[in-house]
Amino acid sequence: MYDSQPSTGAEHLSSISSEPANQDRLALDAQNFREAMSRIAAAVHVVTTDGPGGRFGATVSAACSVSDDPPSMLICLNRQTRMHDAVLHNRSFCLNTLSDDHEEISDSFGGRDNLEMAEKFARHNWTNLATGCPALDTARLSVDCEVFSVTEMGTHSIIVGTVADLRMTDPGKSLLYVRRGYKSLDT
Ligand SMILES: Cc1cc2nc3c(=O)[nH]c(=O)nc-3n(C[C@H](O)[C@H](O)[C@H](O)COP(=O)(O)O)c2cc1C
Repeated sequence: MYDSQPSTGAEHLSSISSEPANQDRLALDAQNFREAMSRIAAAVHVVTTDGPGGRFGATVSAACSVSDDPPSMLICLNRQTRMHDAVLHNRSFCLNTLSDDHEEISDSFGGRDNLEMAEKFARHNWTNLATGCPALDTARLSVDCEVFSVTEMGTHSIIVGTVADLRMTDPGKSLLYVRRGYKSLDT
């Protein structure tokens, strides 16, 4: 049976307009945004480059695939890093996905030690892939890319690369970064 009074829709407003009991709406400032983003677990990679712009590496968690046609990836690099200018100069980069026993490599290429760039590289074994960028021999996988496009966004550049070469190991444990700490995940 129908109600005698037509619905105004108001009886649904409470479920639409109020926050869920277990969520808080936050002021949109950089600190809250960073805190929210820290809850997103991300794989950790060392991105390398080599060529006329020099040999550099940096730890990067802002990376993902774009398309399989053509095979392509994107990375987000802070424009103030040496890595950024070197990638744009060399027009290539290699993304090396770290395993769960690579925390020290992540910290090193993440700027958490005072080693010279050459010394960071000297502690590990690398093989140059098609573009000439170094692939970490113990990485879970390495994706070697030529730079396709660069888009500036705030402090960072979104760099899209088309894949020139690819290496991968059997399934194993990958390194994740979440809430400012490392975790391990079977991948
Ligand atoms: C776990 C982790 C993830 C990071 N992710 C990024 C990233 O996605 N993009 C970025 O520009 N820097 C990222 N960084 C910081 C860079 O690694 C760091 O700024 C860079 O190595 C500094 O390089 P430079 O001192 O040679 O200029 C990350 C650092 C860590 C430890």
